[in-house]
Amino acid sequence: MSNNILEIKDYTLSFLINNKKVKAVDDLNIDIKEGELVALVGESGCGKSLTALSILSLLPSNSSIDCGKINFKNQNLLDLPIDELNNIRGNDISIVFQEPMSALNPLIKVGNQILQTLKSHNKNINNPVEIVKEMLKEVGLSDTNRIFKSYPHQLSGGMRQRVMIAMALINNPLLLIADEPTTALDVTIQAQVLNLIKGMSKKLNTAVLFISHDLALVKNLCDRVYVMYASMIVETSSVDNIINDAKHPYTKALLKSLPTIKQRGTKLHSINGIVPKLENRVENACPFAPRCDFAKQLCFDQKPCLEKVGDSYIRCHFHKEINQ
Ligand SMILES: Nc1ncnc2c1ncn2[C@@H]1O[C@H](COP(=O)(O)OP(=O)(O)O)[C@@H](O)[C@H]1O
Ligand SMILES: [Mg+2]
Repeated sequence: MSNNILEIKDYTLSFLINNKKVKAVDDLNIDIKEGELVALVGESGCGKSLTALSILSLLPSNSSIDCGKINFKNQNLLDLPIDELNNIRGNDISIVFQEPMSALNPLIKVGNQILQTLKSHNKNINNPVEIVKEMLKEVGLSDTNRIFKSYPHQLSGGMRQRVMIAMALINNPLLLIADEPTTALDVTIQAQVLNLIKGMSKKLNTAVLFISHDLALVKNLCDRVYVMYASMIVETSSVDNIINDAKHPYTKALLKSLPTIKQRGTKLHSINGIVPKLENRVENACPFAPRCDFAKQLCFDQKPCLEKVGDSYIRCHFHKEINQ
């Protein structure tokens, strides 16, 4: 037995595109401990949302799982029948998406939506309305009577995201998956929502898988970081190591493209090129090679393994030379 509540092991997910099988998640390994805040970071198209959806078995119908396990409390979620999965979703594991408007039902008052989630897993609970209002207060919404009776469109984007977080936490989950939860919000509200997620995680001892394309958000929020590029984890370590001593060229490039106060007024660095589309990915090469400043022939000819280096794991043929 380990104290990991979630263990994704050797997990590979693929799509059939133009009669060719392409991996959208390739040999993924992620562990999350009880109460731990873990980030999954990478540019758009790297496979982060498919990872989140895999945990909840909410995958698109054209995908196929090739191998691996997703153990939650030492039980493989991939083997569970649908009724047991439904019991876990919204209860032990919940998710907050980028766009709360698409996750909330526009025709039902938000209080009643949270109430449904509470009652669907707790049939005979006393004072459910009071519990929902208490949770709305916990997530920083003050006029709880009004909010309870509001329809989603009557609330601001930041308030809607708080409502989503209240709904996700109402059953005291062991794991909260937050998939780009602040991307649609403006910067000040973004910071408030991040603080809320961190505060609630500490208070309820809820583990969080925080998904973002922005390493800057992760800095003050998470304990550990997984960096994903083109379906693969390329580096994982403590947040300190990732921010101050990144070893993979992709992580270094992500960090270099973050704005700093010193650079104010100068042009931001951006990584050359784009994440390749699934159908253009090559099997036996480092996926980052075409965009990497340090790439050599070997990088185009052989896929690197995820190698343990100190407290980190790095997928790069030349990490030693680069980090000398
Ligand atoms: N249903 C699907 N069919 C084919 N390709 C898909 C499907 N869903 C996602 N993809 C592709 O899988 C890749 C990873 O997607 P996603 O996990 O959403 O990335 P991220 O969340 O990191 O931006 C992308 O290239 C995306 O276009
Ligand atoms: Mg996504």
